[in-house]
Amino acid sequence: MRRFALPIFLSLVSAGASLSRTPVVYEAPVILENIAVRASSQLLLTSIVSPTLLSFDPTAINGTFDAVHTFPNATSLTGIVEYRPGVFALLASITNTTTNRMVPGSIALWSVEFTGSTPLVREIGVLAYITLANGLTFLPSAPDILLCADSVSGVVWQIDARTGATRIAIQDPSMNPDAPAPAVGVDGVHIRFEGATPYLYFTNAEKATFSRVALKLNHGFNVTAAGAVQTLATIPPADQQQQPDDFTLDERGRAWVGVWPGALMVFSPPATRNGNWTQMTALGNVDGTDPALLHPTSAAFGRGSSVQRSMLYVVTATGQVVAIDTSE
Ligand SMILES: *[C@@H]1O[C@H](CO)[C@@H](O)[C@H](O)[C@H]1NC(C)=O
Ligand SMILES: *[C@@H]1O[C@H](CO)[C@@H](O)[C@H](O)[C@H]1NC(C)=O
Ligand SMILES: *[C@@H]1O[C@H](CO)[C@@H](O)[C@H](O)[C@H]1NC(C)=O
Ligand SMILES: *[C@@H]1O[C@H](CO)[C@@H](O)[C@H](O)[C@H]1NC(C)=O
Ligand SMILES: *[C@@H]1O[C@H](CO)[C@@H](O)[C@H](O)[C@H]1NC(C)=O
Repeated sequence: MRRFALPIFLSLVSAGASLSRTPVVYEAPVILENIAVRASSQLLLTSIVSPTLLSFDPTAINGTFDAVHTFPNATSLTGIVEYRPGVFALLASITNTTTNRMVPGSIALWSVEFTGSTPLVREIGVLAYITLANGLTFLPSAPDILLCADSVSGVVWQIDARTGATRIAIQDPSMNPDAPAPAVGVDGVHIRFEGATPYLYFTNAEKATFSRVALKLNHGFNVTAAGAVQTLATIPPADQQQQPDDFTLDERGRAWVGVWPGALMVFSPPATRNGNWTQMTALGNVDGTDPALLHPTSAAFGRGSSVQRSMLYVVTATGQVVAIDTSE
């Protein structure tokens, strides 16, 4: 989620820039915000203008967007993450997308469990202190610890997935929006281990940065920073036009980042120890003039077959699911 612009609905398709195969574009019935992928290969999709969680099977011949569940007292769904096998946590709220403000007291954390024949939906708790609950991730070494980007407060909250209890895990200037709402600071959040150390990678939309910070778990349950935040990439020019939204990390540690208004960028870790991260545009462009990709909000790799595992699914605030074959 980032500073919202009016959606433009388009029917496509045009060829991808630097990927060898033409992306396939599916048109969802609603603008899209976030994506998680089930072990079954099905995509789970959220929207900031709908309280209904959607599923889409990209392996079906003519897949349809199906409602999984409609959450009560909500207008908006943001971050979603699978934090235990088959169990997803997601954020529901009443959100004004003009002001990028969530109604205080309206943000709830829910779990959706796909282990039985029908999804089991449960409210974990109301998140009273979070201002703009955006990206959501979890700590694999302690799976009931969720981490949530608060884009207006510029902090990352720790949420107990059993009780909904919250505490501030990380507060750092690199997470601030540096402007009042509707500006969005820390946005997408994802964990990747380097050796035994978990790193929290995050984008800051308004600052146009991609950063990481090492984490440590104190006494088995309190997450804090284990070092200084490192800024790995700044998208030039760092102005109001080019803003990174959510992203996904691949097995090689590369980040596939949705950059508004219209690019999928790849940030690659340095080849040598003291080298710099590199940036390239994989699809679309940072000026937003390629109709193949407009307002990308998040991305996730497929799951299941090897074909699915090399497919990257990018969702957009124009309601597209763009399927990109990343195999080389
Ligand atoms: C898929 O949709 C196309 C276009 O509507 C149609 O021609 C085709 O028969 C459908 N295929 C299946 C397997 O339903
Ligand atoms: C919706 O919110 C109202 C007012 O806070 C509350 O009374 C009601 O129980 C909520 N409904 C559900 C299904 O959570
Ligand atoms: C969102 O906020 C704007 C500006 O305060 C207001 O004009 C608009 O009515 C609000 N929208 C909703 C759905 O409440
Ligand atoms: C964990 O964090 C909470 C809230 O920030 C704090 O009250 C508590 O003392 C911390 N516990 C430990 C063992 O650090
Ligand atoms: C990394 O980037 C910095 C700042 O742009 C530059 O000074 C430095 O030479 C670069 N290092 C390498 C190894 O390219």
